[in-house]
Amino acid sequence: MKKIFFSLLLGLGLVHGTAMAQGDAAAGKDKSMLCAGCHGATGKNPSPIYPDLAGQHAQYIVKQLKAFKSGERTDPVMAPMAANLSEQDMEDLAAYFASQSRTAAQSQDTATTATASAPVTVATKPTFVADAAAGKTLYENGDESRELGACIGCHGKEGHSEVLIYPNLFKQYPEYIEKQLRAFKDGSRIDVVMNKFAGVLTEEEIKNIGAYFANPEAMASIKAKHVAKASVSSEAVNAGKAKAGVCASCHGADGNSMVAMYPKLAGQSSEYLVKQLTEFKNGTRKDPVMAGMAAALSAQDIQDLASYFSAQKMTDGVKEVNELGKALYLGGDKKRGITACVACHGINGKGMAKAGFPAVANQHVDYLKGQLVKFKSLARANDNNAIMRSTTKKVTEQEMQALAEYMSSL
Ligand code: HEC
Ligand code: HEC
Ligand code: HEC
Ligand code: HEC
Repeated sequence: MKKIFFSLLLGLGLVHGTAMAQGDAAAGKDKSMLCAGCHGATGKNPSPIYPDLAGQHAQYIVKQLKAFKSGERTDPVMAPMAANLSEQDMEDLAAYFASQSRTAAQSQDTATTATASAPVTVATKPTFVADAAAGKTLYENGDESRELGACIGCHGKEGHSEVLIYPNLFKQYPEYIEKQLRAFKDGSRIDVVMNKFAGVLTEEEIKNIGAYFANPEAMASIKAKHVAKASVSSEAVNAGKAKAGVCASCHGADGNSMVAMYPKLAGQSSEYLVKQLTEFKNGTRKDPVMAGMAAALSAQDIQDLASYFSAQKMTDGVKEVNELGKALYLGGDKKRGITACVACHGINGKGMAKAGFPAVANQHVDYLKGQLVKFKSLARANDNNAIMRSTTKKVTEQEMQALAEYMSSL
């Protein structure tokens, strides 16, 4: 099943390793003369001021060029460069740079002195020595206490991302990586997810992540520090189970409701469940039934119930894959500004607990569709930054049905 799914993704061109660019790489090569002075003829250049473009995902390159052109991403050098590019130019250039090898030996070694065994001494703050192992630890584990998602979840192992809308970081200049993290942190570069994550990084952590990427050959051998996984205490789970009796008539004793209008709660992340119950209680999310149920719950009850339901296993959803739903879920729709759902809810529909993105896999179709309708009509408005309200604005009712069926089949 997993294999079949992966090959479907390959077919759609959303997973690394596909050549599905609409751009013409040969035409892009001619046009790339303009870029070569800074980015290098093949997208590799010896200066850490300029990001390497070789082997970057075409989709990502196009998105950045559009962002420079529209001013959404500001850079005094790239703005005028992008201003003169047509959409076709962008596609062609992206196809060309994406087709170049990222892994081949390159000029980077001249630009960086950092190695894994000899940590970098940062000139601006001589007392601080960047720690590649600490960078790797953070990259692979995130930090639960600050709701910082693991970078590896989106950017992939050692920075080889498998989803084309997430940039590859492997072999990127550490100086450039650090500069972008600072830009996301201070808000001068905008991306909902990265603003949130970079926002909680300290300057030391940014440098540690840079140090982790400083020597691509050594990345695998750097030893990440051991991180104790915060496991849900069986005490909390048992306490939640004792309190879940009142929920059973609608949501099922183990959180697997039998009625399509009541959501399954089993296996949903406890972070998300806590947020929902708290918001039903304070009225941020409106539902007459759940408002009554949540009113009686203390913060401790909410925590316990969330621990209990998140520790249960969700039963399967629908079996058949809806093709229309699949295309939209994985690819979004650039023309209508619909962000691909996969960006946040994940390839497997498991969501991302730390980022507050709920699991949608195996959920009841009727419930899923109902929520999409509510986000679009603004009847549900508890999504931070109006993420779901803006995503559903241009989605038609028929597409919502298709998306719901697809998510349920994941
Ligand atoms: C005069 C130097 C210069 C030229 C010429 C130039 N760029 Fe850039 N480019 C930059 C700099 C500097 C940045 C980094 C901006 C930042 O720090 O946000 C950049 C960033 C980018 C990025 C974003 C990369 C990422 O990882 O997010 C893309 C894509 C890009 N350039 C494409 C191009 C293309 C295509 C051309 C040719 C049409 C071009 N550039 C020409 C200097 C240049
Ligand atoms: C939920 C997915 C997600 C997670 C988790 C995530 N990122 Fe990102 N990251 C993105 C997306 C999407 C972009 C591209 C934003 C854009 O289009 O401008 C990005 C861009 C970046 C860039 C800029 C790359 C370039 O070429 O300009 C860096 C650097 C980066 N992320 C580092 C990190 C680090 C370090 C972490 C962990 C602390 C992290 N990211 C966690 C999704 C994620
Ligand atoms: C009488 C039926 C009923 C009972 C009893 C009930 N719920 Fe609900 N619950 C619902 C309905 C209906 C919704 C969907 C509301 C909507 O459409 O926004 C819901 C939604 C939820 C959600 C949001 C799920 C998501 O995916 O966003 C959570 C969490 C939840 N209930 C937890 C509980 C807990 C915990 C209890 C017991 C303390 C409980 N519910 C008791 C009917 C019920
Ligand atoms: C940028 C991130 C992002 C994107 C893109 C996104 N979502 Fe969401 N989605 C969220 C967040 C965050 C929530 C939870 C909002 C809250 O806190 O109540 C959510 C909630 C949902 C829910 C409600 C789940 C439940 O249990 O009640 C559904 C269904 C959903 N999204 C489907 C989709 C679909 C379909 C798409 C693509 C058309 C999509 N999402 C795109 C972030 C995203």
